[in-house]
Amino acid sequence: VRLVVLVSGSGTNLQALLDAIAADPEGYGAEIVAVGADRDGIAGLERAERAGVPTFVRRVKDYASREGWDRALTEATAAHEPDLVVSAGFMKIVGEAFLARFGGRFVNTHPALLPSFPGAHGVRDALAYGVRVTGCTVHFVDNGVDTGPIIAQGVVEVRDEDHEDGGAALHERIKEVERRLLVDVVGRLARHGYRIEGRKVRIP
Ligand code: GRF
Repeated sequence: VRLVVLVSGSGTNLQALLDAIAADPEGYGAEIVAVGADRDGIAGLERAERAGVPTFVRRVKDYASREGWDRALTEATAAHEPDLVVSAGFMKIVGEAFLARFGGRFVNTHPALLPSFPGAHGVRDALAYGVRVTGCTVHFVDNGVDTGPIIAQGVVEVRDEDHEDGGAALHERIKEVERRLLVDVVGRLARHGYRIEGRKVRIP
């Protein structure tokens, strides 16, 4: 199975996928054929380059409209003919063109237990709400913000001291669970295939 991974930041989720594939190239069931980003100069792109994976960057500000950017991102992604696209800390909402092409095979990881705390500040919002458990969600992307069918979730307990650093340590603990979950889910989707039935995802 051919994967394109989209990143915006440090790329530790991408690294976890690269490591899992390197550890067992045949057995894992997927290969990363390209890494895309919405900005330059991020560690995520360096991780791809170090692994010898082709990269592409499509920045919103280089296009006259958001739709233009979305079409460019769609074309750049499609050029690598992925079977699955993984948003691993990609901090942009894609548009109609991208979903028309990759809907049903576009997976995102989110650092909260959806449907609670969607959006760009899931960790901070969960902490501010005062929940005692939070976690991460791997889900298919639909046209809402973090609303698509859930594939798997992982749970992380909130500690009293998490309020002191604004959620940084909590986010790190979530990311440890998140990396393992994403590696597990992407591998299972790749090896076994899947069906999306309404809001239910079935992996045989
Ligand atoms: C992850 O927690 C992801 O869910 C979030 O941003 C983080 C990305 O981390 N939206 P990394 O770039 O994979 O290290």
